[in-house]
Amino acid sequence: MAAKRILLIIGGGIAAYKSIELVRLLRKSGHVVRCVLTRAGEQFVTPLTLAALSENKVYTSLFDLKDEVEMGHIQLSREADLVVVAPATADLLAKMAGGQADDLATTLLLATDKPVLAAPAMNVRMWLHAATQRNVAILRGDGVTVLEPDEGEMACGEYGPGRLPEPEAIFAAIEKALTGAPAASLLDGQPDFSEANHRPLHGRRILITAGPTHEPIDPVRYIANRSSGKQGFAIAAAAAEAGAEVLLIAGPVPLPTPPGVIRVDVETAREMAAEVEQGLPVDAAIMVAAVADWRAADTAAQKIKKDGSGAVPPLALAENPDILAGVARSPQRPALLIGFAAETNDVIAHAEAKLARKGCDWIVANDVSADPMGGETNRVHIVTPEGVDSWDRLSKDAVARKLMEKIADELDTRAPPESTHDAD
Ligand code: C5P
Repeated sequence: MAAKRILLIIGGGIAAYKSIELVRLLRKSGHVVRCVLTRAGEQFVTPLTLAALSENKVYTSLFDLKDEVEMGHIQLSREADLVVVAPATADLLAKMAGGQADDLATTLLLATDKPVLAAPAMNVRMWLHAATQRNVAILRGDGVTVLEPDEGEMACGEYGPGRLPEPEAIFAAIEKALTGAPAASLLDGQPDFSEANHRPLHGRRILITAGPTHEPIDPVRYIANRSSGKQGFAIAAAAAEAGAEVLLIAGPVPLPTPPGVIRVDVETAREMAAEVEQGLPVDAAIMVAAVADWRAADTAAQKIKKDGSGAVPPLALAENPDILAGVARSPQRPALLIGFAAETNDVIAHAEAKLARKGCDWIVANDVSADPMGGETNRVHIVTPEGVDSWDRLSKDAVARKLMEKIADELDTRAPPESTHDAD
């Protein structure tokens, strides 16, 4: 590859030492590297080390007038083919997402007109915090490539996602960004939005329900079903990767929140219905949750006890609200409303009937006869008033990505982006 110019911004974190190896790799392949150290970054690596390795001046201060004379900060931010932030701390990501510019690094990031790639590194709780996830979603929506951090043991002794990717992985992502690699790479034959500028849902708001609901009988017992939530979470992840602002309303499932997704946890169908109503308006709603059809008519305040007589307590049921049908009738009905249907037989006929009954636009009919709930794959048929689109058996991630492409195309015809948020 022809030599390129990389502006490398090094944030403050224990992982900053890995940036030294990154500079070495970049130089070895002939790229020109200019380093910028944040104040916190200077606590971990020295300008001298970076200057020696990059064979270039290292910049640290916005108020270094000599630097302004030699090269203004605007020029510095633009005289690069790619701006790389590694490590990108939670603070740096927050400032980038908020458009703050209170030091040299953040000023360059705001002033640049070049692609930006950020490699996050922070404590696992900080990475998983809703604020950081929100910032990452904003940045991805803005076209910044935010790499996923590695998972493992952290310097602080905790375990989980948050480690800076290895220098070789960051280097590979930089090469990919520099070659303008095609936006869609292949994953199970489907587009991969994760490290690309392909964001067909940028500017769209999407609401997703996922998982089962738990309907309490008494403080310790509940009615539930076998939904794992995996398909709904995969859809939320794919929607965020495709650039959408995603609200995931999740029943009780022990799944991690996908990056960039705003998650609201609920327990019962009625809580889910209330959160869905709160979440409107959106451009598209995808109801993947396996909502319990019935709840206990009365919830006992105390644990129901056996009285020793062998008498079985009566369990009266009441019907839960149909959330999907309710959204279909709502004045805030999204431009595209999608339901799911898990069926074991006559899959398409049942889905067609459900489409009419629920008043939604598509039903994603899911054949669960061969692979029951909780599996890793799905064979789906997209049933619409226009016909049926049957897909091969795919991983749940691949179903999610393929669905996002279809949704993006459909939204472009139903609700052009310019008019999308008129109702806000
Ligand atoms: O009627 P059935 O449960 O088969 O319909 C499935 C579809 O309806 C799914 O999209 C599911 O999320 C949605 N649904 C709902 N509220 C209910 C029952 C189902 O939103 N109470």
